[in-house]
Amino acid sequence: MTRAPTIDRARRLAFGRKLRAWYRVHHRDLPWRRTRDPYHVLVSELMLQQTQVSRVVLKYAEFLERFPTLESVARARVRQVMEAWSGLGYYARARNLHRLARTVVCDGAPARLPADPAALRRLPGIGAYTAGAVASFAYERRAPLVDTNVARVLRRVFAPRLNPKTSAGARALWQIAEAILPRTGRATYTHNQALMELGALICTARVRHCGRCPVRSVCATYQRER
Ligand code: ADE
Repeated sequence: MTRAPTIDRARRLAFGRKLRAWYRVHHRDLPWRRTRDPYHVLVSELMLQQTQVSRVVLKYAEFLERFPTLESVARARVRQVMEAWSGLGYYARARNLHRLARTVVCDGAPARLPADPAALRRLPGIGAYTAGAVASFAYERRAPLVDTNVARVLRRVFAPRLNPKTSAGARALWQIAEAILPRTGRATYTHNQALMELGALICTARVRHCGRCPVRSVCATYQRER
């Protein structure tokens, strides 16, 4: 199956309500969830792309102390940004962040990252996921996001027969993510964080903790296997 299934309204609303209610009680207090600063959100999402949460927690504050603003990154040499990135690996992310800062910051003037996902995607190193993350987490835009965790959750809940490894399957998952967004940008912030949190804590790649899952009553995989 490669096409996104249609999801009826009652199921979509129940999923979102249960998901966000669970998140409000059970989410981890992570440092990037205490900010709406677009640059700080961007740094966290770049770090989290290929590095475990526990390691990012250790480096995040230190990096932002050294480079508190996009302007400070633009002023620095790329080598200095890479040094501050040390321990996180995948240094292309640091190099891209430096290129991005120099693109956005003009003559050292205070810069603002765009809020629109399409505009964000035109910046160096920003893919569809990061654009959705910055738009929804920093600006509370009604923008979808899909990473491997979210893809797994959406597939299990809404489309267990979908093959996420094909480009048509990946497209269908983005369509599902868009279709189930809540009505407001504010709720979208919580909704997107909650999808990631459910994938990290409950609906993990290794184990499905369905006994503790807030959305099992609307989950196709759970219903099928029961
Ligand atoms: N991985 C990527 N983004 C994340 C976030 N905002 N919270 C937790 N884990 C993440």
